[in-house]
Amino acid sequence: MTRKSFICGNWKMNATHLDAIQMVQKLSYRLETADYERVDVVVAPPFTSLRSVQTVIEADHLAIELAAQNVHWEQSGAYTGEVSPPMLAKLGVGYVIVGHSERRQMFGETDETVNKKVKAVLAADMVPIMALGETLEEREEGVTEQRVGSQLVNGLAGLTPDQAVGVIIAYEPIWAIGTGRTAEPDDAASVIGFLRRTFGDTFGGELAEHVRIIYGGSMNPGNVAALMAKKDIDGGLVGGASLDPDQFASVVRYWV
Ligand code: 13P
Repeated sequence: MTRKSFICGNWKMNATHLDAIQMVQKLSYRLETADYERVDVVVAPPFTSLRSVQTVIEADHLAIELAAQNVHWEQSGAYTGEVSPPMLAKLGVGYVIVGHSERRQMFGETDETVNKKVKAVLAADMVPIMALGETLEEREEGVTEQRVGSQLVNGLAGLTPDQAVGVIIAYEPIWAIGTGRTAEPDDAASVIGFLRRTFGDTFGGELAEHVRIIYGGSMNPGNVAALMAKKDIDGGLVGGASLDPDQFASVVRYWV
């Protein structure tokens, strides 16, 4: 089974819309048609930059795709400060990150709200990038599989197999995020293999071979090749290294 590689730059709370325009233009200069054939190349700027980046993508006919970093599950209404799935879809957003550990830890996101967001994103014909991962404490206690397994199952609860296989799962061990401490490729592959088997237990072994599961946590040009060499790792969710178009392009072109 060949799964197309998927690499998404999560810019987090960085870059004004003016910075964002430059970043996506610079990235596009560094990538060639063949790169997009091999990898789905996605950037996730802050909400304030989505429209600007979308305009550049459209005007220059770029194959770079757009993701949002968060979403609310309701369609519209009295939810001050929130952004709904139809608003994002209308902007040409194709993917939405849900359940990032920073949102779980700092903004009260739970498996239950993640699940509502996953469903709402699918209903708006976008693709959820559902993030999950264990803390350092959980890893040291030996409960990593228990933790990520329940995040996976709860996050995908109530989905049909056809819906579930369209979700991109992002395994991001919290201790590896923004720390420069990447998971060893063997360790990352082992957890991702476990997630694939767990997915298969619920949705069937055949679909488990199709679902894309990516890694995030200090991924950079120096470690991406070793991670991507693992057959179960289908791509990356890249934070810090995605803010520099040169570095991000090198991550995208991981085989070069
Ligand atoms: P870093 O690449 O900066 O560790 O961030 C990873 C991440 O959280 C991507 O969503």
